[in-house]
Amino acid sequence: MNTPTYRIAPSILSADFARLGEEVRQVIDAGADWIHFDVMDNHYVPNLTFGPMVCQALKPHAKTAAGVAVPIDVHLMVSPVDALAQAFAKAGADLISFHPDASTHVHRSVQAIQGAGCQVGLVFNPAEPLDVLDWLIDDIDLILIMSVNPGFGGQGFIDSALRKVEQARKRIQASGRDIRLEVDGGIKPDNIRRVADAGADTFVAGSAIFGQPDYASVVRAMRQALA
Ligand code: DX5
Ligand code: ZN
Repeated sequence: MNTPTYRIAPSILSADFARLGEEVRQVIDAGADWIHFDVMDNHYVPNLTFGPMVCQALKPHAKTAAGVAVPIDVHLMVSPVDALAQAFAKAGADLISFHPDASTHVHRSVQAIQGAGCQVGLVFNPAEPLDVLDWLIDDIDLILIMSVNPGFGGQGFIDSALRKVEQARKRIQASGRDIRLEVDGGIKPDNIRRVADAGADTFVAGSAIFGQPDYASVVRAMRQALA
């Protein structure tokens, strides 16, 4: 693999919900490449967060001081998938990822998201195999490996995710396609290098960044670990 362009995607799940717009601007000033937006429905996962209206409200805040748009990376932890995915596409999402086990017709959901003008990703829980990629790798833009069980921020990194990242990287290489490999859960400056060495190029981090007073110093520490 050539040296990848790493992306850091802070999850606003751990931000101050009373000041979300400001938090998005601050984390972008701190060097965020993407804004990771965790959508939970209290059905697919045992927690409830925010929906398309909040995404739409944050969209104008998702840009650098120079006015360059920062992609909104929507991680749907919802079932069913399709109607909400459409609503997020309209609300300004750039990438939309969903869990294949949350959709009755996974290929149809992939097509619907692309048809709505967004990049599409598939998300794999810690105990879930990558088999669905046998049939869908040629149709997607992103693979998201969960290194915690979805539903909450601040959990510990599950080590078996590293093996899954290695397997996903092999599949991407075999496909010859340009597919992002993102990892979500328990990522911190002191383990991000291991995750990159396994083959990941995009890193979600919630509590590690928003749990510290100086977001820029955490993002910097992550980039140093990756350098
Ligand atoms: C968990 C979410 C994650 C979460 C990561 O369901 O998908 O994005 O916010 O949070 P940390 O980095 O705190 O594990
Ligand atoms: Zn997430």
